[in-house]
Amino acid sequence: MVPFKEMCFTPAEFINLAKIDKSEFARLEGVGLVKTIKRKMGNVDRKMVTLEEVRNYFQCVRAQKFASGAGAVSAGSPIPVTPGMSMESVAVATGFIPESPKHKVQMFYNVKGGTGKSTLTAQFVMRAVMMGLNVLAVDLDGQGHLSVNLDILDAHERPTIYDVLINDLNPAEAIMNVAPGLDLIPANLGLCNIEIPLNSKTRREYRLAEALAKISDRYDLIVADTNPAASILNCSMLVAANQVNIVCATNPLSFHGMSLVMATVEEMAREFRHELAVKIIPNMYDNREVISQEVLGELKSQFADFCTQSVVNRSADMNEATKRRTTVWDVNPRGVAVSDLNSLTEELLFT
Ligand SMILES: Nc1ncnc2c1ncn2[C@@H]1O[C@H](COP(=O)(O)OP(=O)(O)O)[C@@H](O)[C@H]1O
Ligand SMILES: [Mg+2]
Repeated sequence: MVPFKEMCFTPAEFINLAKIDKSEFARLEGVGLVKTIKRKMGNVDRKMVTLEEVRNYFQCVRAQKFASGAGAVSAGSPIPVTPGMSMESVAVATGFIPESPKHKVQMFYNVKGGTGKSTLTAQFVMRAVMMGLNVLAVDLDGQGHLSVNLDILDAHERPTIYDVLINDLNPAEAIMNVAPGLDLIPANLGLCNIEIPLNSKTRREYRLAEALAKISDRYDLIVADTNPAASILNCSMLVAANQVNIVCATNPLSFHGMSLVMATVEEMAREFRHELAVKIIPNMYDNREVISQEVLGELKSQFADFCTQSVVNRSADMNEATKRRTTVWDVNPRGVAVSDLNSLTEELLFT
């Protein structure tokens, strides 16, 4: 069991992440585009790629792709360019280029609890970090489940978005670093008391958007986990976000609540005259259960324009990852949770 920030990947896992051919790995290593370390596993030294190196690889590939002019990454770029790294060596490696997310500010939402919002938010942000993106996660639920899922256990001692929105704390001071490329504004029980003071603030629904705008330049992606209610805090996030990811468990009650959720989202978008992409993620799908199949069918037919192609299956790995407070990659890199999460992350970021 390894904390996310210390995660390492085997060459086979790296090949899978980068979507490159097996034979390319040695070549990338040869030109210095991927650096490996040796880690002791039992009696043998195994070659591994650290999380930072995985991120570095994707950032290099991305910078090369988007660099204007011939070849080199532009001067002043934060991305270290390895001597000898040529355009051709990168070109062979471009099995997968994580471009900039289509919608930078996203939120996971549902007024119903227990549908998997905090779980998917945590897994999604960690997966985006593995693509080399710089990510800010924002926990907007006083239960602090996103913070816990990201292995932050001392959130009760830290400032939260409460201090930013009510006590005018500079948002930069509420940010903590969790892992390379992953920052968090954590939450604790104090956040449960925000509704009354927030209600009496002027421009209350705009305060969160304005606070996030102040720190937005530092990140490629900002993702919030929300509280299961139609609260002012959630409305504020709907105003701040460009994309809302509604997590719907494939059970009848979760489906029943969807009309209310969609109505709320549409009303907010109309009232605040705001472009908001809407995606519905079917979660905890079990293809052995007729009821699960029925609900998925209903979701796809009633909300055809919004439902994601990716469906997240119910899997013990997802629960185990929650228990271990890390990514499903650490639990079982070849499991169904990993493949579901890979396709979901790409869909939420790039379509
Ligand atoms: N796809 C899944 N398969 C199995 N368990 C899941 C899945 N998604 C979420 N869970 C589990 O469901 C529980 C509730 O999830 P959580 O993310 O806390 O929901 P919410 O934030 O919507 O209240 C957690 O124990 C989590 O591990
Ligand atoms: Mg939650």
